[in-house]
Amino acid sequence: MIDLGVRAVDVQLAQFASLRPREVLSPQLRSQATATLRKVLADARKQGQPSTEAILPYVDRIVDQVLRNQEVMVGLTDIRAHDAYTHAHSVNVCMLATMIGRSLGYTRNSLLILGIGAIMHDLGKVYIDPEILTQRSPLTWDQYQQVQEHPVLGYQALDRTPGIPRPAAMISLQHHERLDASGYPHAAEAAQIGAFSRIVAVADVYDAISSDRPYRAALTPLECLRLLSQEERGRLWPDAVNALAARIAPYPEGSTVELEGGELAVVIRCTAHSPLRPEVAIFTDNEGNLLAEPVAKRLSDAEHEQLTIRELLTLEGVSDTAAGAAPDPDRPSEAANLGEAAAAVRPVILPEEQRQAANLSSMFDPAEDGR
Ligand SMILES: [Fe+2]
Repeated sequence: MIDLGVRAVDVQLAQFASLRPREVLSPQLRSQATATLRKVLADARKQGQPSTEAILPYVDRIVDQVLRNQEVMVGLTDIRAHDAYTHAHSVNVCMLATMIGRSLGYTRNSLLILGIGAIMHDLGKVYIDPEILTQRSPLTWDQYQQVQEHPVLGYQALDRTPGIPRPAAMISLQHHERLDASGYPHAAEAAQIGAFSRIVAVADVYDAISSDRPYRAALTPLECLRLLSQEERGRLWPDAVNALAARIAPYPEGSTVELEGGELAVVIRCTAHSPLRPEVAIFTDNEGNLLAEPVAKRLSDAEHEQLTIRELLTLEGVSDTAAGAAPDPDRPSEAANLGEAAAAVRPVILPEEQRQAANLSSMFDPAEDGR
């Protein structure tokens, strides 16, 4: 790995500062939906019964933006929001599930039902002792049993909530069921698991493994897709996995890559028609020397067919922390840009280290993802 001088890289790429990675959801909508969901879930914890009217308009807007931005690939900022994990995760699951549903041809009405169930899929967790959910030490058998009650608890609460369609409530009940009958709470057979629940299961797992967690680093998009399609083969619905895979950018906008020749580049634009060959800005030569001017190349152009990407160097996309600012849970960065993303180049997420850190066998830490 070439040793990068972070400040120099930042200066070199300052000319790209006006570019921002495209996102399926606007930062404003993501922030507002997350904050509203946080309040809905907090109220449900206090009152026992959820009041979901407040979140429904946001599901409507998420569906709208998913339908409007169908050419946008899912990048890092979409799947690595800075908010408290649970709420941001649920908004991401809603977005990803809606994208999958759209690819599978569902109508807008169906997408709304899917989206409602997706954003509320983990409602049942509010009825479980929070100390168990945040416990870092291994759970006792009794605690594990309690955690596995959250699908039923969520379903029961949603099913008696006015305005929540039964298929949306069923998502809460079945999102941990698996096609090989290895899931919970009922170890349901494939034929018993609804399509909406199968879709949310894929979105739920993808978002969990593509996010940094306290006990492991996020996987790269390609590693996530490999896990979904290979390690989870037989457990997750292949149609939903394939639909999602078609929208995930292997090299997200704002990430840093190394080309086969050794040059380093920042990804400027990803396109669905050529996901492995994005447009990049090359900023070093093959010995790691910074170029006087970054050189933009669209790798999908025939004239650049000799240029290929060797590997993704950073998972860090655009973030507030990259810009040196303290992350605000409710206000994703407005100033985020590719120049700042390049400044985030740091060795903590080198693929080799990441692969070691992300031991697939421990992926579903019972302390979090398996819940
Ligand atoms: Fe869950």
